[in-house]
Amino acid sequence: MTDPGLDAVAGMFRVLAEFDFEGASPLYHRLATAAADDPEVVALLLPAAPRDRMPHLLFAAVQYLLGRDGVGMLDAFSSAPYETFRTWCLDHRQELESLTSTRVNQTNEVGRCAASLPTLATVAAWTRSPLAIVEVGTSAGLNLLLDRYRYVFGPGHEMGPTESGVVLQPRIEGAAPPPMAMPEIVFRMGLDRQPEDVADDDAMRWLRACIWPEQHWRAELFDRAVDAARRDPPTIVRGDVLETLGDVVGQAPPDAALCILHTAFINYLPEPDRFVDLLSQLGAERPLWWVSGEPPGLVPGMTSTAPAPARSGGIHFLYGAQPVGQTAHEPAVLARSGTHGAWLEWLGDPSD
Ligand SMILES: C[S@@+](CC[C@H](N)C(=O)[O-])C[C@H]1O[C@@H](n2cnc3c(N)ncnc32)[C@H](O)[C@@H]1O
Repeated sequence: MTDPGLDAVAGMFRVLAEFDFEGASPLYHRLATAAADDPEVVALLLPAAPRDRMPHLLFAAVQYLLGRDGVGMLDAFSSAPYETFRTWCLDHRQELESLTSTRVNQTNEVGRCAASLPTLATVAAWTRSPLAIVEVGTSAGLNLLLDRYRYVFGPGHEMGPTESGVVLQPRIEGAAPPPMAMPEIVFRMGLDRQPEDVADDDAMRWLRACIWPEQHWRAELFDRAVDAARRDPPTIVRGDVLETLGDVVGQAPPDAALCILHTAFINYLPEPDRFVDLLSQLGAERPLWWVSGEPPGLVPGMTSTAPAPARSGGIHFLYGAQPVGQTAHEPAVLARSGTHGAWLEWLGDPSD
């Protein structure tokens, strides 16, 4: 490949095949490895904005189009040679380019609630208050409904409504079980620059198409959470976090512990320092709790030196809470979890 744009995208296929897809999605691993040397297939991503030219955007577009015809991506390609995939892509070039030019790779990963919930419960225990939760980068808002889901952390460690169709059952790593307490949530609101409406079938089909094809448990959780959210959808405000967070926070009841929650979000901000400054500014007006679930190193104060569980492959999110505009508590890294919530290690509350 000689076009520098194409070379850069081909490089993403190679990198993601090795570091993201290997082990997690054998189909994406195989397709991305071969596509990295296939300029015609790589070029299907050129209509996307440069930062969105990622192989999973192309794969999501393929899944979405196949799903429209009721065909699963594994059924279509897992036992077929790469040539079948490339021919299919080139036959559907126009539709694929129309998707890669208009959509972005999107998630709303319900599995992350298994780590967010005990983290928020810890803030509720520290403050002895009900919580007002504002989730930034909420997507379809599925994770705002976390107290409607059932959690199974091991024998005798279960909580949440028994009738819930959404059951989170991460593999538990480490010795300490997460705290078994359901916080009282008196206010919840999400904000997103590109929110997804749970009532919109097509939007939900796209979100589902962004789930990797072997990860059936993620797709099942997603479907069940969408069903639950359709019965009583969360309130979501559209807008950039830097422009809208102040207004949303202003709506939270004053007597609740205000939690600004985000997971898999901070990486998307071109200038994360401006978000950190905004939190400090809001915290000066009203004390708040910054509750995050992000890869290590992205949230100031959220680092852990303890070795990650062997089976994690070293890739994980750190969940924790820190006070802003108050000195009520030290920042605390409370949990480590698989990026999509497949496993959970409770690191413990250092103040216990
Ligand atoms: C990877 S998704 C994570 C969604 C959800 N937090 C989860 O864990 O499933 C990141 C979300 O952040 C939103 N986002 C990115 N930049 C944003 C910004 N500047 N302001 C508001 N939302 C933003 C995106 O639209 C997207 O919905």
